Amino acid sequence: MRFSPNLLEEISRRTDLVQLVGRRVKLVRKGRVMWGCCPFHKEKTPSFKVENERRLYKCFGCGAGGDAFKWLTETEGLTFPESVEKLAAEAGVELPKWSPEDEAREDRRKSLYEIIEAACVFFEEQLRARAGELAREYLLSRGLNGEAAKQFRLGYAPSNDALKEHLYKKNIALDDMVAAGLVRPQDGDRGPRDFFFNRLMFPITDARGRVIAFGGRALDADAKPKYINTGETPFFSKGRLLYNFASARAAAIKSGTIILAEGYMDVIALVRAGFEHAVAPLGTALTEDQLALLWRVAAEPILAFDGDDAGLRAAQRAARLALPHLKPGYSLRFAFLPPGEDPDSLIRASGPAAMKKLLDAAEPLAQVLWQAETEDKDFSTPERRAGLERTLSDIVSAISDPKIADYYRRDFEQKVFDTFKRRAPRPQADQPGCRPYTGARNAPTFPPRPLESVSPAVRNSLIARAGASGPRRRKEAELAAMLLESPQIALSHGEALAALPFSERSLDRLRHELLNLAASGVRLEKPGLENHLIRAGLGELLDRLVRHAPGSRGGEAGTGTDTPETVVGDAQAVGARWLVAAAQLHEMAEAAPERRRAMERFNTEASEESWRDAHRLLKSRALPNE
Ligand code: UTP
Ligand code: MN
Repeated sequence: MRFSPNLLEEISRRTDLVQLVGRRVKLVRKGRVMWGCCPFHKEKTPSFKVENERRLYKCFGCGAGGDAFKWLTETEGLTFPESVEKLAAEAGVELPKWSPEDEAREDRRKSLYEIIEAACVFFEEQLRARAGELAREYLLSRGLNGEAAKQFRLGYAPSNDALKEHLYKKNIALDDMVAAGLVRPQDGDRGPRDFFFNRLMFPITDARGRVIAFGGRALDADAKPKYINTGETPFFSKGRLLYNFASARAAAIKSGTIILAEGYMDVIALVRAGFEHAVAPLGTALTEDQLALLWRVAAEPILAFDGDDAGLRAAQRAARLALPHLKPGYSLRFAFLPPGEDPDSLIRASGPAAMKKLLDAAEPLAQVLWQAETEDKDFSTPERRAGLERTLSDIVSAISDPKIADYYRRDFEQKVFDTFKRRAPRPQADQPGCRPYTGARNAPTFPPRPLESVSPAVRNSLIARAGASGPRRRKEAELAAMLLESPQIALSHGEALAALPFSERSLDRLRHELLNLAASGVRLEKPGLENHLIRAGLGELLDRLVRHAPGSRGGEAGTGTDTPETVVGDAQAVGARWLVAAAQLHEMAEAAPERRRAMERFNTEASEESWRDAHRLLKSRALPNE
């Protein structure tokens, strides 16, 4: 151990804690104790005390407390050794010399920092130089001027091993360039070469603001990979840092929250729009270390995820990741961007106010977990309800803090109770002698909700989990709605119907019923069919499909019998339209397995390569009628 208890004791004794804390918190003396408003939670009357005598600070409101070292780790995001070094320097306490090996390692680290800093300066210069013209234009095209470039120390890495040559001239050894992650080592006949070339450079700093790595974005729209990042080096570990953390920290502590976006560009757009407390992971899925970093500066970080399937998956993943680490007062909130948008594009298109609205509406963790399990799902059988309760109880078991677990359990119980009790009455079928399925007696279901009331986030995540994407689900619903409107399709195009790649069980059952009816020679007419389907337990599905019916306004769940007759049209034309939609669905389904595999890989590996694949597939999802 480098720091002996005696040494720590001495540093602590020589530190004026009141003065240290007083730099951030306004303190007022009452007797021997200083009081102020706690910086770790929002309060109006002081319950936070600092005592020089006992060398401790403590909040009676939220329980935060500790010594001078803890204070620095909590408020400045320093590591423990960093806080010791800082306080020792301020107190004039000399730290013991390390072993010669330690010393050598430290020297080398120092020189690596210097090399990376030199590279950062070089990239910055290149951006301003002639070579950087295209990069500058690119930045401008994304709304970033020279001032923004300066603020984030953006740079340009030219081609032809320009960095390597530049560092050579500064007498820097090749080995060190390699160790710093700037140059790829010799590989067979290929000599050592620049790791980054012809890329826009985003310097990544450690918690103290020292540049230790880079992200590089291709300028060309279809260059692959879009981003590359410095590999793991002796002092850069992607999973332990967050982009912009050093700068965001102060703003985060001040505002009491921190925003986690997905990409570098998002962070820059957020900061430029006035959200200085924005950070992002470094090309991997969020890790536990990064979560701890977020919680170090804010009790309820807001995770802002892209409105695409990858973003929604990432949100679910982050939610699960947080459960074992929840502490009283500490949680997460989630802001979901509209599909296809990220914070950068949203701010550019709709302005900071739109972003603010979205952040203000961020949903609490408990709500997001609940919605992901329930929204848009059918709980019309006891088994499914029991299944839901088991899933919810699994979530609760993943929470380590007993008190929080207890609150979650009660919250979920209440939600289950409320939801199943408050079922909306279903429209009665008007056929005498047949008991309409109401769902209320022995198989409670959720009240049918207009699709609009379902948050896009959760809707998409459910769809993703069901294995089909939004467009595909919509196409399936469209096909099913056409079948309800014109059931004779089941007769005229039975084979095509049987071959449809439905991804949802209830649609599969609908098809089964239709094909059976067609085969049994029953006259297929809309009202009779609906009653039949309701009796078969497909009432929930009917409600949903009515909104997809041609001519429906998509808001209210109607009875299904009041749709204008005019939309039925001539049977042949309807059949033809249905076949076109069926062909489109086949096309979508063919693209699906590859995408799902890519997403799975992305979720388990979080490697740069899997990011690329997942993103490429998700973004190439331009489909007919979408
Ligand atoms: P995105 O693909 O969402 O990019 O990746 P972006 O941030 O919106 O970038 P622009 O707007 O297209 O320029 C989000 C983040 O994922 C990492 C990067 O950190 C990026 O900022 N990433 C993405 C990679 O590491 N490699 C990739 O190939 C792509
Ligand atoms: Mn973007």
